[in-house]
Amino acid sequence: MISSSPHAIAPAWGKVILIGEHAVVHGHKALAGAIERGLRCTAQPQLGPSRLCAPAWQIDVQVGDDHPVADALGRMLAASGAADLSLEILGDLPAAAGLGSSAALCVSIARALGPKRSDDEVVALANLGERSFHSQPSGIDVALSCRGGFGVYQRESGLEALTCQALPIVVGLSGVPRSTATMVTGVAERMSSSTVVRNSIERIGALTQDAQAALQASDLSALGILMNECHGHLQTIGVSIDILDQMVSTAREAGALGAKLTGAGGGGSMIALAPGREHEVMKALEDLGHQSFITNLGATR
Ligand code: PMV
Repeated sequence: MISSSPHAIAPAWGKVILIGEHAVVHGHKALAGAIERGLRCTAQPQLGPSRLCAPAWQIDVQVGDDHPVADALGRMLAASGAADLSLEILGDLPAAAGLGSSAALCVSIARALGPKRSDDEVVALANLGERSFHSQPSGIDVALSCRGGFGVYQRESGLEALTCQALPIVVGLSGVPRSTATMVTGVAERMSSSTVVRNSIERIGALTQDAQAALQASDLSALGILMNECHGHLQTIGVSIDILDQMVSTAREAGALGAKLTGAGGGGSMIALAPGREHEVMKALEDLGHQSFITNLGATR
């Protein structure tokens, strides 16, 4: 688990969307929390083109390479006016798993390029880099990665911090990589031709409002029911896959009050709310062949 020592540069957190993914791209609110996993970036001056390595993700690139990480680094260096640097990314956040890894990468780079930047400046610079991974990101991942905690995010108003108790949650990794951009584009295409898909997006937006109220009232049974309904709508809009559906069913059978995919879908991760039964859910997911971990959602700030 990455530490949040006040003497070090603040980490860039990973995140889980509790409810509201995809609808947030279309102007609705999403409710999300930072997880206790994240990234840090160190920077050393160097001669020649800037480079970045992330050993845990087997990434070693330099500016100019045909790679989204090299592209993001190039954009952020150009905007910040920093000299040539050698950057190293360390941390425990899995890549391409729906846990906001590209946003955390960009936030950690933005912090390393200017340790005295305000959160707003870090978010603005990181959003420039994030566009190398997703052409139209809603901005929720970057905002949460920078600020931690819980938040309700809406495209036009940004992140509103929520004060509520941390929520223990099980995160299950499908192990199937996917592209957020491809998933977002697919939903937009299906929305243009299907009322059913448009209605599901609207309904996810409404569920988010109810989930915020349930979370703030610590009504976990209600929150679980809303998560389950949300997963059904994510199936309807075409972003779940059999493996995620199986993991969600397994978590519910093992005692979860609610379970759903999180993030863009098509692979990535699912989450389960299982107060007091987290270890049973983890074991059931692991018996199915999937890595999982328990995290306190919203505990970081
Ligand atoms: O990239 P992910 O899997 O962390 O999820 C992003 C959430 C979406 O709503 C699908 C896209 C977005 O930009 O908000």
